[in-house]
Amino acid sequence: MSKNLYTLITGASEGFGKALAMECASRKMNLILVALPDSKLQLLAETLIQKYAIEVISIEKDLSIEENCTMLYKQVEELKLSVNMLINNVGISSTMFFSEGNIGFYQKQVKLNVVATTLLTSLFLEMLKANKPSHILNVGSLSCFFYLAKKQVYGATKSYIYSFSKSLRGELSSEGINVSVICPGGMNTNETIVNTNKSNNWLARQSIMNPEEVAPIAIKGLLKCKEIIIPGRMNKLFLLIDKLLPSFIIKMIANNHINKFKSYNTGNQPTNETVFNRSLEAT
Ligand SMILES: NC(=O)c1ccc[n+]([C@@H]2O[C@H](COP(=O)([O-])OP(=O)(O)OC[C@H]3O[C@@H](n4cnc5c(N)ncnc54)[C@H](OP(=O)(O)O)[C@@H]3O)[C@@H](O)[C@H]2O)c1
Repeated sequence: MSKNLYTLITGASEGFGKALAMECASRKMNLILVALPDSKLQLLAETLIQKYAIEVISIEKDLSIEENCTMLYKQVEELKLSVNMLINNVGISSTMFFSEGNIGFYQKQVKLNVVATTLLTSLFLEMLKANKPSHILNVGSLSCFFYLAKKQVYGATKSYIYSFSKSLRGELSSEGINVSVICPGGMNTNETIVNTNKSNNWLARQSIMNPEEVAPIAIKGLLKCKEIIIPGRMNKLFLLIDKLLPSFIIKMIANNHINKFKSYNTGNQPTNETVFNRSLEAT
């Protein structure tokens, strides 16, 4: 008898993770959804079971705590669930000068964005090999390609995800495991991000996508075994401009961007020169 296979999605109760869960459910994939305790996860699981007649298991764990990643794996093993798709979506973003944040927040950001992704990939690796052909989708960000003010730690965690995914892909392709990385630009997910996006200029707002638009692109790209998935025409355009411009001009724009931010903080309005960079801030 063939066993039931599951897709495990971290950070699945809200935002992009929820949109990914809904997209996978619509494709009749069984799901293991993970989010913080007391989230709306159980409700989402029940809705998906009723609507799509699939199996959905919800597990509540704070994945910023390393032991919880191990406990999640053990729970999946004890329930005798077989995972053939791992979606490392969980992550927290931030937009602030480095001096404005505190070390506790940065530690949590690194633990969630970097450590949880690495640990879960390591823990589930043998299971993914046993269930090949299998997939790993890591959620990066467009900000991993740019070195933006107010995105230093967040951007660095996403650069890790990008680099990790590309190297791992090379190692695991011969083992029947596809590794893809998605680098979305700004998405209207949680309330804070939606409010920031509303205050952006016109060009910046054109690049913002809804998570429900990005999720089908992500899953389609993953199943096609694409190495890097960049959703949206505007985001692709930003990357192209970045590649075409000489590095000294990029540096000038970046310095200008930081100065404009500083004068913006002191009450002066930004000019059109900040448009390109501010479009990337939401990523
Ligand atoms: N939004 C954007 O503009 C954007 C752009 C590029 C990339 N991304 C990336 O996309 C991913 C999802 O972002 P999002 O904007 O959708 O986030 P979000 O709306 O804040 O949702 C985060 C999800 O992660 C869960 N979560 C938060 N902390 C957790 C923890 N410690 N342990 C377990 N689960 C936790 C939340 O669960 P609860 O409901 O229980 O809190 C929620 O389900 C992140 O990796 C982010 O970097 C986002």
